[in-house]
Amino acid sequence: MVAIAILAAGRGTRMKSDLPKVLHRMGGRSLLEWVLNSVEEIQPVRRLVIVGYRHELVMEMLANSQGETPLPALEFVEQREQLGTGHAVQQLLTPMEGFEGDLLILNGDVPLLRPQTLKLLLQTHQENRNAATILTAQLPDPKGYGRVFRTDQNLLQQIIEDRDCTPTQRQNHRINAGVYCFRWADLGRVLPQLTTNNDQKEYYLTDAVNYMKPVMAIDVEDYQEILGINDRKQLADAYTILQTRIKEDWMKKGVTLIDPSSITIDDTVELEPDVVIEPQTHLRGKTAIGAGSRIGPGSLIENSQIGQNVTVLYSVVTDSYVAEATRIGPYAHLRGHVETGSHCRIGNFVELKNTKLGDRTNVAHLSYLGDTIAGNQVNIGAGTITANYDGVKKHPTHIGDRSKTGSNSVLVAPVTIGEDVNIAAGSTITDDVPNNCLAIARSRQVIKPGWRLKSNSDQKNMGD
Ligand code: UD1
Ligand code: CA
Repeated sequence: MVAIAILAAGRGTRMKSDLPKVLHRMGGRSLLEWVLNSVEEIQPVRRLVIVGYRHELVMEMLANSQGETPLPALEFVEQREQLGTGHAVQQLLTPMEGFEGDLLILNGDVPLLRPQTLKLLLQTHQENRNAATILTAQLPDPKGYGRVFRTDQNLLQQIIEDRDCTPTQRQNHRINAGVYCFRWADLGRVLPQLTTNNDQKEYYLTDAVNYMKPVMAIDVEDYQEILGINDRKQLADAYTILQTRIKEDWMKKGVTLIDPSSITIDDTVELEPDVVIEPQTHLRGKTAIGAGSRIGPGSLIENSQIGQNVTVLYSVVTDSYVAEATRIGPYAHLRGHVETGSHCRIGNFVELKNTKLGDRTNVAHLSYLGDTIAGNQVNIGAGTITANYDGVKKHPTHIGDRSKTGSNSVLVAPVTIGEDVNIAAGSTITDDVPNNCLAIARSRQVIKPGWRLKSNSDQKNMGD
């Protein structure tokens, strides 16, 4: 039985921000959500978050975030004053009273931990029946981290904070990652004994570890996993590490990335093999892209489902569904629940909003369609606009199968165009149009034979 607790009460002064550090975002999630995500697979029986600085905000932001698998609700524990990591964990004494099991403690500012690493930590802890097991790493630059001293059998001797180390002790590059597994009954016993006898005059959780036995310290294979975020530079670096991970993973699974460093992909995105992502392209949120599709260069796809063999060139697609073999762009914008059929063409400078297109329908140039349902094989002529907004309400436009709108037509909604209709170029359509007809709604062209503009010389002559 495992409970988890996350330390998230600090402000994070070095972020130079009003926002609590753990709410800063990396990719599609806050740091705290990343940490919560990394423990999902362990399926903890309780999830406690220790909050302090702007705790209402932290609680509110987390209330809306739900993980993939159903987990017990978050329990928030307030630490009114931040007197150190040991003091933070002391706040658990009352809510966790009588808990029989292990407690995994994580810092809220360590977002890159792999679930596998946590599983391994827990497994080592349980198999060896340790009082505590801590995660350590060998860092090229260990500055600022607590140093861990252990025996050849991985048994902990001591953790000493960087600032409390002697120069010789500082030579040790094995650091405390801030990820701990405790037998709760043992931790509960030592927590009340902590003192502030150190350089920062704080209650250190690391002291609790020093008081327990046996404690094992195990090294993480990839030290990048345990990097903590203390400032914006580290936040940016962590994002780069995350991106490298995600992109290498997709390349292994058969996705081509052209100039990967210019591409960003959220970890919530799904790609099929033989997708090609061109430079300067960003894939965000719950997006999925089908095999053989080519996205970019210069495109943003967010919360959208893209079918197979689709091309998207210099375009933005959000909250939409694009069926197979449809071509989008250059310079198109699909937003607010667009659904296209297959083999459609949505071309240059076209905006679609809350619009549904059937199969093989084209909107090739300079159009806006909003709140429109168009059938199959419809051709929307260049410059066609649906006037969907009367200043108060939005209204729908329906266009039947095989109908064609001439260039520069305006369809004033609500309006229904039947099937096999032709709308003459330049028409302003305000009334419904039945099936099988031509609709012309513009004034006739007038020809005035022999007419010409009077020139200045003519006027002078007249005056003479
Ligand atoms: C801590 C460890 C250090 C380790 C490092 C790893 C201690 C004494 N030291 O140092 O050995 O190498 O993490 O990143 O534990 N927090 C609270 N309440 C508090 C103080 C902190 O909730 O009163 C939270 C912070 O919001 C943060 C986490 O605990 O999420 C770690 O605190 P921080 O001050 O960053 O500890 P470090 O000095 O980094
Ligand atoms: Ca830290």
